[in-house]
Amino acid sequence: MYAPADLIDDRPGEGVFRVHRAIFDDPGIFELEMQHIFAGGWVFLGLSSQARAAHDFFTTTIGRVPILVMRDESGALGAFVNTCPHKGARIAQTMQGNTALHVCAYHSWSFDSAGRNKGIKWKKAGCYEEAFDKDCHDLARLPAFDEYRGFLFGSLAANVMPLREHLGEVTKLLDLVADQSEEGIELIPGGVVFTFEGNWKLQLENCSDAYHFTSAHPSYLNILKKRKDSPDAAAPRSFWENSQPWSEEAKGVAGGSYSFANGHVLNWGLMEIADTMPLFERAGPLAARIGEEARNWMFNMRNLTIFPNLQIAENASSQLRVIRPLSANRTEMRTWCIGPKGESAAARRQRIRQYEDFFNPSGMATPDDTTSYENCQRGHTSRVQPWLQGYGRGMGASREGGNIFSDKIGMTPARNVLADAQLCDETLYHAYYREWLRRMQKACT
Ligand code: FES
Ligand SMILES: [Fe+2]
Repeated sequence: MYAPADLIDDRPGEGVFRVHRAIFDDPGIFELEMQHIFAGGWVFLGLSSQARAAHDFFTTTIGRVPILVMRDESGALGAFVNTCPHKGARIAQTMQGNTALHVCAYHSWSFDSAGRNKGIKWKKAGCYEEAFDKDCHDLARLPAFDEYRGFLFGSLAANVMPLREHLGEVTKLLDLVADQSEEGIELIPGGVVFTFEGNWKLQLENCSDAYHFTSAHPSYLNILKKRKDSPDAAAPRSFWENSQPWSEEAKGVAGGSYSFANGHVLNWGLMEIADTMPLFERAGPLAARIGEEARNWMFNMRNLTIFPNLQIAENASSQLRVIRPLSANRTEMRTWCIGPKGESAAARRQRIRQYEDFFNPSGMATPDDTTSYENCQRGHTSRVQPWLQGYGRGMGASREGGNIFSDKIGMTPARNVLADAQLCDETLYHAYYREWLRRMQKACT
């Protein structure tokens, strides 16, 4: 039996940060994570645009707990535990839909889109006592539910810090997503759900892992090269075509990373504004609306993680990922291409083609990543060499606070690394595991 503190070796003064393999496959640790990381704090639920009209709903989870988010008759969004007060059956069984009345499939109790109980089958004949009538038969609302610019978060615990405080400086990075259209962003139809035989934190880390890109994705890179050498009019032009200029301003910087309070991180790369990017058609109006610096940042490659379960990858195309842990060694991913509402048909087509190239189980990169997670999970069964060495790159380059690039959008991270093309910082994982330990220890006391 491991205690959470046994699994992180964090000695910054000595230049040491190591993670124990058991963090990825110990069932006892997984149970604690469900309780204290997922049930004990803010978790991303979805976008408000997933329930635009009255009575629209979508389902998700907080850890293993089923959640139902609905827009009621008056237009207000509500988030509920997706379980019947009668005998506990899941009420909504599809990922999304529209209904003014949810009828439980087990004994037909019914609920409106505000979660109010509207009917108890054969109630009069049920010989209920008065105490039953005094009970509330409505669906249970989440103790905490809030929104930041269309990003919906909920918590099964009431005693969480305000959402704005949980997000902190990362709101400036969510703004770079939300501001891409005056109407906000949307999930593009064609979302994909898949599972892999590995721990959820392998996905958490991979989104921030610049080091694996040229090693794990040779098929994608080779095809991009072939297309460049002999252009094929039918193939999508690569997102990367005019990518990663070295910054003259910062002498050879190609990007880097930012870590924030509460476990959020960004891995990013400098990019030029190029017509290969679907957002190109908006480059001028965006600069006028949000300023040139924020606009320029929107065109940078950005992999953002909002701890513990939301990732927005704006590289190769644009993807929103929700991580759903199933067990210590099994994870479900829900992924969508995202795009600004109202973009032109040509830009949307380009975005989707670039997306299909790279993402999805049928794309050229996602299977490389999931196969690597499964290889790691198999390797983690060993305790012969228990401490992993994948957290040391960049420790000598990590600095407190922000830098000239974060200053451009008035953002103050807790730490930053400025990297050339080969540094590929690994210190941003420290933010995940420090937050992980903080919550797990709080849980244990
Ligand atoms: S469990 Fe829902 S009506 Fe019985
Ligand atoms: Fe990858």
